[in-house]
Amino acid sequence: MAVPEKVVTNEDLAQIVDTNDEWIVSRTGIHQRHIAGKDETTASLATKAAARAMAMTALEPPDIDLIIVSTSTPEHFFPATACLVQDALGAGRAGAFDLSAACTGFIYALNMAAQSIRSGSIRNAIVIGSETLSRMINWEDRTTCVLFGDGAGAIVLEASERPGGILSCVMRSDGSGGELLSIPAGGSRYPTTVETLQRKMHTIHMNGKEVYRFATHVMASATREAISRSGLRLSDISLIIPHQANLRIIEAAARGLKLPMDKFVVNIGNYGNTSTASIPIAMCEAVGAGRIRPGDNLVMVGFGGGLTWGALALQWVEPEKRARPALRRRRSILIWLAHLRSFFRRVYRRIEGVLWGGRERGTK
Ligand code: COA
Repeated sequence: MAVPEKVVTNEDLAQIVDTNDEWIVSRTGIHQRHIAGKDETTASLATKAAARAMAMTALEPPDIDLIIVSTSTPEHFFPATACLVQDALGAGRAGAFDLSAACTGFIYALNMAAQSIRSGSIRNAIVIGSETLSRMINWEDRTTCVLFGDGAGAIVLEASERPGGILSCVMRSDGSGGELLSIPAGGSRYPTTVETLQRKMHTIHMNGKEVYRFATHVMASATREAISRSGLRLSDISLIIPHQANLRIIEAAARGLKLPMDKFVVNIGNYGNTSTASIPIAMCEAVGAGRIRPGDNLVMVGFGGGLTWGALALQWVEPEKRARPALRRRRSILIWLAHLRSFFRRVYRRIEGVLWGGRERGTK
C-alpha cells in the first residue's frame, strides 16, 4: 500500500468549511485522511503500492503478465493509468488497462484477474486500487469534502496448483442510481466549458442519504451470496474486509450478518473513504498486523457509484516463493532502471520517426 505523507485532520477541515470533529466522527468514524502532495498522483501512488506488493513475491517486473488499475480518478482519460504504472515498473511484457467501477472496482478487478489466470491466458497479475479523490473534491462542500482521502493498495495474483485463492465473486450494478454519486462533467455528456467549471460539475456530487440507504441494503446480502457461492458458511469466515465509506455502514453490515465488529477490518478513522483503494489498504494493514494468516477464509465487500456493489470470497495463500535479498536488490535496480528504459524508448521512437519520415519522403 501507499498513502501520501500529508495528513489532514477534522480540525484542519473545520478551518476551511463549517464543520467540526464531533460531527464528522459521530456521522462517519473518520478522524483524518491522507491527501496527495503536488507531485503525488494516482499513477505514482499505484506504482509505489505495486512495487511493494511485488516485493512480497519472487516476481520481477519483466515477469508480470497483466496490470489492472482500478480507479475513478485516473491520471488522464487515456492513456490508462495502468500503462503509466507498467512503464514506471519496467514491466515490459505486461498488458495494462484501467477498470472503472467506483468503490467496488477492486473487487471487480481482482475477479477479472483471477479469471484470466484460471483461463490459462496469463500466469500472474498485479491488481491495484488507486485514487487521488482530493483532486475531484469541491473543498467548499462540507457534505463531501470531509469524507474522502487519497491512497493506493495492491495485490499480486499468481497461478498455483495449491488450493485457495479467489473462491467466488458477486458483481452487481444498478445504473438507475448513477446520479446519486457522480462527477457529472468532463466526459462526453458534459464536456468541459466555462459553465461546467463555474457550476463545479467536475467535482464529486453525492446524495449522501440515498447512498447510505443503498449501502446498508447491499453489504450484508452480497457478503452472504459470495459466501454461499464459495461453498463456505459464514462461520468459516475469519475476517471481512469491507469498503471503508462510513463506520455506521460497516456496523449496519455487522448487525445484518449478526457478526461482532472484531470480524471486520476497520481503518476508516485514519484514511477516510479512499474509494477503490480502501479494501486493498485495509487488507495490507490486516496482513501487517498479523490478522490474516495462510488458510484464512476472507470476504471483501464493497459498494459505490454506478451504482455498483459486490463481494468476493477468498482463501488467503502466501506466495509460493519469496524473494531472497539478492533478488530484492536486483528488482529495486530493475525498477530504478525503468526510468532509463522509458527515456531511451522515447528517444528511440523519436529517432525512428525522423528516419521513417525521411524514408517516406524519399519514396515520393
Ligand atoms: N459538518 C457539519 N454538518 C454537516 C456536514 C458537515 N461536514 N455535512 C452535512 N452537515 C449537516 C447537513 O447540512 C444537515 O444539516 P440540516 O439538518 O440543517 O440540513 C445535517 O448535517 C444532517 O445531514 P445529513 O445528510 O442528514 O447527515 P447524515 O446523518 O445522513 O450523514 C453522511 C451524512 C454523508 C455522512 C451519510 O449520509 C453517509 O455516509 N452517506 C453515505 C455516503 C457514502 O458512503 N459515500 C461514498 C459511497 S462509496
